[in-house]
Amino acid sequence: MRLAPPRTRINSNKTTAEGKSGMRKIRVSHISILVLLVVGLLSVGCDYNSHMTTWGTAGPVAAKQALLFNVLLWVMVVVFVLVEGALLYAAIKFRRKPGDGLPKQVHGNTPLEITWTVIPTILILALGIWSVFTLFELKDPPATADGALEVTVTGHQWWWEFEYQDADGSGRFINTSNELIVPVGRPVNLLLNSDDVIHSFWVPKLAGKVDVVPTRNTRMWFQGDEIGSFYGQCAEFCGTAHALMKFQVHVLSEADYMNWVASYGQPPGTVEALTGTARKGQEIFMSNGACLACHTIEGVPGAMGVLGPNLTGLGNKQTFASGIMDLNRENLRRWLKNPNDVKPGNRMSEQAPVYQTPDGNINLTEKEVSALIEYLLSLK
Ligand code: CUA
Repeated sequence: MRLAPPRTRINSNKTTAEGKSGMRKIRVSHISILVLLVVGLLSVGCDYNSHMTTWGTAGPVAAKQALLFNVLLWVMVVVFVLVEGALLYAAIKFRRKPGDGLPKQVHGNTPLEITWTVIPTILILALGIWSVFTLFELKDPPATADGALEVTVTGHQWWWEFEYQDADGSGRFINTSNELIVPVGRPVNLLLNSDDVIHSFWVPKLAGKVDVVPTRNTRMWFQGDEIGSFYGQCAEFCGTAHALMKFQVHVLSEADYMNWVASYGQPPGTVEALTGTARKGQEIFMSNGACLACHTIEGVPGAMGVLGPNLTGLGNKQTFASGIMDLNRENLRRWLKNPNDVKPGNRMSEQAPVYQTPDGNINLTEKEVSALIEYLLSLK
């Protein structure tokens, strides 16, 4: 057992210059930490174009929530500054000076007490009532809105599944993941449920978070009034890869949306013949122990697994692996070679036989991985 070195005795009677400069150092370091904290807090979400921001909204639900938040925030800032200002003013101005006796003792002041009871009561009632009304108002899309799109959202460890029972009004079923495609200016009704643990669906520029709870359905709706891509993130700690459970909502023009629906699920090879490499990739995909047991591809008999994302239309996406990487050959190679390097905890590394190797690297040659990449990119 090692003994701690003997401590130097502090001479409490001596206030040396060293001691004073030590205190100053501590104070300076405290102040710099405080400054850093404030700067950090102020810079969080300040960039209107950043991926995740609650500043700036792109639809009516988020706009109403942001308005409520901003009014609550600024009312509270005013109250805070007034109350703390009065407190500081009184503490400094009327502090006891040397030689002062006891001040005059005051007990109760009826007008003051009525004032500081009535003002907060009015404020809290007003803000509370407005909050509750907003809550009810945002429960469902307005009755006047037409053509709401219904999408079922399922949270999985760690990716998002989106199912459209009727994507185009003629009963077209679509199953996709991590990139939710919606038409501009139309309400989108989401029915949310979870496959495993509690997740939380959050696209700050479109709507506030709603918990996604196993064994029960929650609902929310939003509407994208701006064409563009909006970033979302699971907002409830749900395990190892929680922070990497991202997604995007792409708001498209009505025509582009309909094109997307129409182009979804062309069986691979029907639009353009698969290249030789891609065909080789398809064979690997379909081989026992590789991919088909967990992934579905529409129009490809045998590929009907449901444990992982449905890969139909993968080649049309911008990202993959739950929105954490841009879809390109280089990233696909990194992901396929060893998914655990990119997204620790992912189920594919854990469960797919092809990854059951000593170092977790895929049990395929570089050439075979290249073929697989070409096949995956050919999926429309
Ligand atoms: Cu899902 Cu955090």
